[in-house]
Amino acid sequence: MRLDGNVTSQTKQREQWGTQVGFMLAAIGSAVGLGNIWKFPYITGENGGSAFIIVYLFAIALIGLPIMLSEFLIGRKTQMNAVSSFKELAPNKPWYLTGLMGVAAAFIILSFYGVVAGWALNYTFESLTGKILSVAPEELGAHFGSFISETYSPILWQLLFMLLVILIVVGGINKGIEKWNKFLMPTLALLIVIIAIRSVTLSGASAGLEFLLKPDFSALKPTSFLIALGHAFFSLSLGMGTMITYGSYVPKDQNLPKAALWISGADTLIALLAGLAIFPAVFAFNMEPNAGPGLVFITLPAIFQQLPAGQFFAILFFLLLTIAALTSAVSLLEVPVAYFSDKFNWSRKQTTWLIGTIIFVMGIPSSLSSGVMKDFKIFGKNFFDAADFLASNILLPLGGLLIALFVGWVMKSKDAVEAADYEEKDTLGRLWYYVVKFVAPVLIFLVLLNLTGILTKIFPFLSE
Ligand code: PHE
Repeated sequence: MRLDGNVTSQTKQREQWGTQVGFMLAAIGSAVGLGNIWKFPYITGENGGSAFIIVYLFAIALIGLPIMLSEFLIGRKTQMNAVSSFKELAPNKPWYLTGLMGVAAAFIILSFYGVVAGWALNYTFESLTGKILSVAPEELGAHFGSFISETYSPILWQLLFMLLVILIVVGGINKGIEKWNKFLMPTLALLIVIIAIRSVTLSGASAGLEFLLKPDFSALKPTSFLIALGHAFFSLSLGMGTMITYGSYVPKDQNLPKAALWISGADTLIALLAGLAIFPAVFAFNMEPNAGPGLVFITLPAIFQQLPAGQFFAILFFLLLTIAALTSAVSLLEVPVAYFSDKFNWSRKQTTWLIGTIIFVMGIPSSLSSGVMKDFKIFGKNFFDAADFLASNILLPLGGLLIALFVGWVMKSKDAVEAADYEEKDTLGRLWYYVVKFVAPVLIFLVLLNLTGILTKIFPFLSE
């Protein structure tokens, strides 16, 4: 008897994306998330602006894009979930553990992702009722702080958000994920363009534009390179089998390099638009760009309060944030749902409700870690930060490293190049292959090494 779900998964008819556009929008929906609109702006703010963006662009092009293509080809070649696909390509070898690690990462990431998404949902509601606009500007920090440290209310918002995620995933690939992304992603693009235009046309916006466009390399910290690379992974949803899983629903006649290029391009464009939406306004209203995680929840509401039709823009912005989070969360849930429903031959509905509920419960300590559980520390971090650190800084880069090594060293080069839709003598194909085989593993290894603190011991200048 085989231990994995291959046998059962083949007896069930596997769904596929209806159209290439549908697939790309779903993958863009996965990539564009809190990472783009909440995290990218604040890490850019903390790392000096424009110069950091340039480093980030290199990380996307050099590492992110090639690994995204690697994930797609594994998924499409096998048409299997993130675990079975490794078993299929490397039978009787431990490579499937990479897939299992991805499934574990999906549980962890979605558990705390749902918490922040719940905050976004609450802020959408407070924008609709006008509450957030009536808080005194100097009270906004305390307002946010007291909301996230409450016991019940953030959990209820997280629950509501997780219900939306579950309802979409229950619908399946075509009628759930593809259908909703086709509607939500164009909406998101429209919203962000409107907000960016509003921001860059404010008087005093030019200082913000300069911050984004005029590189000051002296503002880069040594760690900025590693932060940029780590974030490229998170933002493109790489290293945990999301793109393997989404790739497994791609019909054979679609061109993978083209898709990967469009998806990473769109993800980057949205991140840059988020920067354009936020920084010109931050500078125009004399706020600080380096406000950290509170940037969108504290700094932006202060701006909306001073903007004509501020309520309108507040609603648009938090709706945008919620939509971005929703389509990413859907892809996070799909990874374990695909795996468990294949493996145990459970129905999609049953599996989605079960896994979704478990992940919601796992997220509760993350939600409480700003309040009643704030003194509960794991390696000096509260529960939320520990979960984020474990998943984003360890599991994703490690997964990415293993995926690159798998495609570069375990698969036969001819098979890999062919599965990536390249001709054998294609220069681009060769370039891609060498990046995956040598460049990406070395760079990711450095990122991981940096975490252990070894790098800063050998090269003290890295610690600033
Ligand atoms: N890419 C998503 C974002 O930017 C997060 C994510 C990570 C989604 C990993 C799926 C897998 O917010």
